[in-house]
Amino acid sequence: MNQVILVVDDDTSNLALAQKILGKEYRIAAANSGKVALKYLENNCPDLILLDINMPEMDGFQVLEEVQRMERFSHVPVIFLTADNDPETETRCFATGAVDFVAKPFIPDVLMSRVKKTLELEIYRANLEHMVEEQTRIITARTRRISQIQEQVIMGMATLIETRDNSTGKHVKNTMTYVKMIASELKARNIYSDILTEDYIMNVYKAAPLHDVGKIKISDAILRKPGRLTEEEYNAMKLHTVYGREIINEIIGGVEDPAYVKIAEDIAMYHHERWDGTGYPIGLKGEDIPLCARIMALADVFDALYEERCYKEPIRPVYKIMQTLKEGRGTQFDPLITDVFTSLEQEIKDLLGELL
Ligand SMILES: [Fe+2]
Repeated sequence: MNQVILVVDDDTSNLALAQKILGKEYRIAAANSGKVALKYLENNCPDLILLDINMPEMDGFQVLEEVQRMERFSHVPVIFLTADNDPETETRCFATGAVDFVAKPFIPDVLMSRVKKTLELEIYRANLEHMVEEQTRIITARTRRISQIQEQVIMGMATLIETRDNSTGKHVKNTMTYVKMIASELKARNIYSDILTEDYIMNVYKAAPLHDVGKIKISDAILRKPGRLTEEEYNAMKLHTVYGREIINEIIGGVEDPAYVKIAEDIAMYHHERWDGTGYPIGLKGEDIPLCARIMALADVFDALYEERCYKEPIRPVYKIMQTLKEGRGTQFDPLITDVFTSLEQEIKDLLGELL
């Protein structure tokens, strides 16, 4: 099918001439006024518009303005036809968005050549746009798949670690949910809201499963010991924080989003720090402890108390755990985060399916 050119000119002899010159290679739609042209465009989309500037009622510039209002014509090139070859008109032609202009009376070869080049360029542009869209679609799908694989690897790694010292295996998923609940509620109450962007909260949620990844380097003899740890064993156990940060850096440091990696490292390294500075591994105090780790500390302790471990019975109901957390307010835990988390008692009971 030949490409369609809409020629708009009030001078019918020009329309006839355009038909004669261009009709051999293209299908011509002729309009003898701006209004007729716009009527035609209601139901048709030509490949190119040749538009006379000087016409009664609506001039070419006004017609172009109307055409540009309609999104579906955004890629249809417009060439102005003009008998005025003054620089001002030429400048205005390009300023309004026309791709070119042709002086009247037409020189047949010039008209044909301008039309041909414009249509060729339009085909290149459309192909290029299509290629970019296609490549973007492929890259987006690939990126999504890589990110899914990474998440699966992270979850798998975290679950593997959990099954070594936790019989239930629910710790990973539960702590993810708790940190998200805490962070979202803090943000809703405008607490630490300068740090808690949507991205930050999502990164904390996704990084939570890795908080104990360093335990992979702790021996079973310590990790699964039913009784109390000796001081030496406890000191070895504390190192899971430092190992955690190292492992995260080695495994995902170069491939994941740096903001996510930083949060995952901070959570692993500092989730056993205490608000009063008596925690480990560094003894950071108060707001010197990264916010993500302060949030993780509460979620981690809550879940450790709630779940059964090889060395302890679970504490129930949730109310009793909340009391224990409140006792740590301002000593072990960030006081504001403690207030927020303990106020979520009902939501957590609902989540855990606890009836009382
Ligand atoms: Fe830990």
